[in-house]
Amino acid sequence: MSKVLITSALPYINGIPHLGHMVGCLLPSDVYARYMRMQGQNVLYIVGTDEHGTTSEVGALKAGMDVETYCDMNHARHLKTYQDFLLSFDYFGRTSSEQNKEMTYHIFKKLDENGYIEERTVKQIYSLDDQMFLADRYITGTCPHCGYDKARGDQCENCTKVLEPTELLNARSTISGSQNLEVRETKHLFLNLPKVEPKLREWLKSKEPFWPEVAYSIAQKWLKEGLQPRCITRDLKWGFPVPKAGFENKVFYVWFDAPIGYIGITKQWADEDPENRDWKDWWMGVSDVRHVEFMGKDNVPYHSITFPATLLGTGEPWTQVDYLKGCSYLTYEGGKFSKSENRGIFAEDAVKEFPADYWRYWLMSNIPEASDSSFTFDLFAAVVNKDLNGVLGNFVSRVLKMTASKIGTFVPARGADTPLETTLKQNLKARVAAYFKYMDAMEFRKALNELRAIWVEGNNYISDAEPWTVIKEDAARAGAILNVCINLIRLFAVLSAPVMPQTVEAMLNRLGLKLSDMPSLKDFDVEKELSVLKEGAPFEVGEPLFERITPERLEELKQKYGGEKHGA
Ligand code: 2FM
Ligand code: ZN
Repeated sequence: MSKVLITSALPYINGIPHLGHMVGCLLPSDVYARYMRMQGQNVLYIVGTDEHGTTSEVGALKAGMDVETYCDMNHARHLKTYQDFLLSFDYFGRTSSEQNKEMTYHIFKKLDENGYIEERTVKQIYSLDDQMFLADRYITGTCPHCGYDKARGDQCENCTKVLEPTELLNARSTISGSQNLEVRETKHLFLNLPKVEPKLREWLKSKEPFWPEVAYSIAQKWLKEGLQPRCITRDLKWGFPVPKAGFENKVFYVWFDAPIGYIGITKQWADEDPENRDWKDWWMGVSDVRHVEFMGKDNVPYHSITFPATLLGTGEPWTQVDYLKGCSYLTYEGGKFSKSENRGIFAEDAVKEFPADYWRYWLMSNIPEASDSSFTFDLFAAVVNKDLNGVLGNFVSRVLKMTASKIGTFVPARGADTPLETTLKQNLKARVAAYFKYMDAMEFRKALNELRAIWVEGNNYISDAEPWTVIKEDAARAGAILNVCINLIRLFAVLSAPVMPQTVEAMLNRLGLKLSDMPSLKDFDVEKELSVLKEGAPFEVGEPLFERITPERLEELKQKYGGEKHGA
């Protein structure tokens, strides 16, 4: 058993998670964590909220709250949403925790001792109307590289280049819209990235054979453009105060302590059971940990360059990222999700409309891996009706209903295999091997395609075997076919568990089984798995697994979540 450390980009506390956030990092990290656990690996899956920075200060101001209360409230809201989406993290922590402060200070001290921190006087943008230095994210303007006119002061989301706010053309305050801005001088601390660069290049080279092309090429593009020293402090109140003489009134930049948050949150987790857990077993001086990070592609530069450089600069043997899964974006009916414009379905509303598994299945089948993908309610309804109801749900209810009415609510006796069973097993073996291959490689679209094809094998088998006709002549053979079908329900449940845990529980319950009865996927053998449920084992027919989305309901959803408005 090896150790797999799984992290998802930590969502900003002030944001309201929409389907794009779910599919870009949180959901695939959960599916992978569940899959790895079923493979018998020792998994630690860490998520939490990214809490510092001006966005939180401004959010709190707008909500009429102090920033701590605002963060407490939003942390609980994020946690509830992710629990509703059935994310199976081992710990959901916070970057503002004492543990993260301790880690941030330790790492900063090491970098400083090793000569990677330098002081610089910089020119920063002060908004006279807002009476504050504007955080990078709160300055909007035209990107000097690609001309995009809504670039933020920290990064252009169009060309992904990381920016300094003073580089923006026609800068304005995002808070007030004011262009009454002036550049003032202020002293800050910088991480000397050019000085870490040789170590970074060497480290990155060691990752080349393993990283996905998308992530590796973004990192290479950055290196090619040349690394600049990166400012790691800010003139703000909300954040960790900088522990260095002359800088006590400043705090660390949110992007300095956010990725350290993975370590801080691991320590939060360990502190809950110090006798049995040690954060160092996952992060310091260990060679048996594989660290897999999930994130949107805009996060890739931070996790492939600045955070690894931060850790390398300490000279300590930190666990670094081994595999970086970067996703593209999900659009909503062809445009952007926007809470203020009431466009798009947000995660906390989504689970009020349909059970989490409907979303989990749709999102993972349509995950924006190679390029952006679009959510539309039409596509969602088509998948729910066709794949979930038509393929999986229909198979389960058809088999159980037919067995109950023609034979009884127990598994009938198995017979000798005919060519139909031989073909079924051959097809399943090939499909299951492909499913595992794609899950191992985190190619989720392809994996979900295989999963659906596995369900289709069941439908093909029952259509070809026709137990409803056979029963008129040969009750034993019909029983044998239904025995295979009931075992197929269990096999489908086991394989679908990383994606649809709640549905799988319902499927297993009908067969008198529990989630904890599931086998390890490590030695999964189709032949064996199709013989687990023996003659006489009782089952219940139960309610249909899924609800169909009617044309009326579809219209209602589009109206409610602004799908039509945007499409117009
Ligand atoms: O882009 C974001 O949503 C950031 N809050 C991600 C931070 S990831 C990690 F560094 F914490
Ligand atoms: Zn740009």
